[in-house]
Amino acid sequence: MAADEPLVLGIETSCDETGVGVVRGTTLLADAVASSVEEHGRYGGVVPEIASRAHLEAMVPTVQRALDQAGIKASDLDGIAVTAGPGLAGALLVGVSAAKAYAYALGKPLYGVNHLASHICVDQLEHGRLPEPTMALLVSGGHSSLLLTEDITSTVRSLGATIDDAAGEAFDKVARLLNLGFPGGPVIDRYAREGDPAAIAFPRGLTGAKDPVYDFSFSGLKTAVSRWVEAKRRAGEDVPVRDVSASFQEAVVDVLTRKAVRACKDEGVDHLMIGGGVAANSRLRALAQERCDRAGITLRVPRPKLCTDNGAMVAALGAEMVRRDRAPSAFDLSADSSLPVTDTHVPASHDELHRLAE
Ligand code: KG4
Ligand code: ZN
Repeated sequence: MAADEPLVLGIETSCDETGVGVVRGTTLLADAVASSVEEHGRYGGVVPEIASRAHLEAMVPTVQRALDQAGIKASDLDGIAVTAGPGLAGALLVGVSAAKAYAYALGKPLYGVNHLASHICVDQLEHGRLPEPTMALLVSGGHSSLLLTEDITSTVRSLGATIDDAAGEAFDKVARLLNLGFPGGPVIDRYAREGDPAAIAFPRGLTGAKDPVYDFSFSGLKTAVSRWVEAKRRAGEDVPVRDVSASFQEAVVDVLTRKAVRACKDEGVDHLMIGGGVAANSRLRALAQERCDRAGITLRVPRPKLCTDNGAMVAALGAEMVRRDRAPSAFDLSADSSLPVTDTHVPASHDELHRLAE
């Protein structure tokens, strides 16, 4: 680990995990997470007000835990990074306010960064610096996107995204339909291992000749699964949960990997990274590896703990911002629930930078 690499603390509160990470350059020093997922379980999805309150309660102890884990003092830091968006407005606000308070009190630069760019950058902690360009397939409960990443601190281009449900959302909704609880991805992944992926021919969304090449759609698939399950129940037959899980999962990962590999070939990019919570899916990882091997593409997927929301990914992008001398954010940084992915961070204007320097 190079001692002169920037030491950055990252705060992530865009959804239901309060994540605080500490990174030096591309080296992970601490990754502390407090989750409110169990409080949301009985509602079948994340309740924004519950998430915000949980962030508020967890923030200070989680920051302390991360600093202890990293074995550093807050005064050693070169910067504080925070997710400025996209995400749940109230939840983001807790993180942004905390980051401002720490940055101001410690006299350190503040970096408001993009949640999606952080999901991509986290792979640097696992596999070293990202090759430029890298194609990124981001799949989580809130997003499904194909992003051509030319410079993770400044230039991320969106090639396609879901036009309805996100991939993880589809897993969660199908799991609810099958009474498997929340979040749905890990349970379906487990059941699918004992099922037949070819048992039921579920539709592959947006794969027709006239469909947009890089966009995704999962709501038709969700409806197809729902109709199939309802028909079984009406007929008084048992629902084969393992086969439904395997066939549904196959339909999702088939489309994701097919479109990601196609994007790499079309754009002449030979590195694909997959991030976001759904990247933890065992079948997605296996099929992506198979198809990338066949196409001569190098696949990079971080370990599952780094794929789901965490603070280390924010710290990783913050460290890259410092290393590349990107402008910090102003202290009036606000949370932006729909921050576009092309805004990798929220730099202060020229005038604000001038004021910050005074
Ligand atoms: O990235 P993440 O932690 O939070 C968001 O930003 O959404 O992703 C959470 C999503 C949930 O929808 C969850 O069901 C899904 O990731 N997920 C999975 C798996 N593990 C988590 N989906 C499929 N297979 C998995 N093994
Ligand atoms: Zn996320």
